[in-house]
Amino acid sequence: NELGYDAAAAEKGGFEHFMLKEIHEQPDSLRNAIRGRLDFNLGSSVLSGMGTSPRDLAELHRVVFVGCGTSLHAGLVGEYAVEDMADIHSEVQQAAEFRYRNPIIGSRDLVVAISQSGETADTLAAVREANQKGAFVMGLCNVVGSTIARETGRGVYLHAGPEISVASTKAFTCQVAVMLMMALKLGRGRRFSREEGMKFAREIEAIPALVEKVIAQSDRIAAIAARYAQNEHAFFIGRGPMYPVALEGALKLKEISYIHAEGYHAAELKHGPIALLQEGTPVVALANDIPGKDKTLGNVEECRARGARILGIITEGDHEAAEFMDDVIEVPACHPLVSTIPTAVALQLLAYHIANERGCEIDQPRNLAKSVTVE
Ligand code: G6P
Repeated sequence: NELGYDAAAAEKGGFEHFMLKEIHEQPDSLRNAIRGRLDFNLGSSVLSGMGTSPRDLAELHRVVFVGCGTSLHAGLVGEYAVEDMADIHSEVQQAAEFRYRNPIIGSRDLVVAISQSGETADTLAAVREANQKGAFVMGLCNVVGSTIARETGRGVYLHAGPEISVASTKAFTCQVAVMLMMALKLGRGRRFSREEGMKFAREIEAIPALVEKVIAQSDRIAAIAARYAQNEHAFFIGRGPMYPVALEGALKLKEISYIHAEGYHAAELKHGPIALLQEGTPVVALANDIPGKDKTLGNVEECRARGARILGIITEGDHEAAEFMDDVIEVPACHPLVSTIPTAVALQLLAYHIANERGCEIDQPRNLAKSVTVE
């Protein structure tokens, strides 16, 4: 316009794309998601929107997460967290599958519908099915007053702020942070001691700072990305809670760069996909210093032997793991479940910089919609 004011650019807050802006917003989004929700005295979390009494929680038989796309991947991290910390059976179901498989769900099951928009048709259908079966149904939504938030009537808002980029970034990390708080609360209703709870609450509190440390490496990650941008295939491997992060890393890359990317459990690669490795095929190995790292490093060796080029995501200062890699991105040391968040941020930046290098329409990838409201 006449004043030389570019509204579109202003909306992006000086960033070239909404995706990059939203990646950078994550420390703040996470602070907002966490604020007022940790109780350091009880070593627990305060999630009053869950609307459950301690007795309800004590009697829970199972937690079932449902969602689609990136929200489904967040649910997979939640599954690990709830089983590990709360000692409750936990599983994840693709929301579109949920009602067609005639799920065994009852009044002692907690069904958590994960949806950034709160409008995804398949996730909403799963909510209705779970309600029908008398489960505790809860929403984990970002958009306040969205259909899923309303129909569940209870849950936890992410407070991530509006997410414009089709490729979800800050919603994912806030979903995981909220699920860690949920697992903490469930855990404290069971075998998790006050001491353990306080320690974990401190770990959660530190998440925004961990993410800041990864974002500070954006330029370095861009330089690494330039070396991988010409490949047409890529594999992401991880195990334990890093397995869902590998799936999410591959999804981010394929969505915005159109590179054929696959995420696998690190142990699964040798059961078939390894046949696709050739000289120079990129393998992004999530080899954080968490239980199972040695096994993942063994899988990295198998890939190297086939000529793959390995980009390792490793824990800061882990020289042993760095030896196995062609390139490395370091994430700060933290609890294994917590480390899913900074690791996911590293992969968001990797995908972003690769797509940018390839000149892709990052905020509007072909064939994709921000919210899928048809089944
Ligand atoms: C679409 C978006 C994804 C998102 C998925 C689930 O496919 O492109 O980024 O993860 O829907 O959306 P929801 O709003 O339910 O989290």
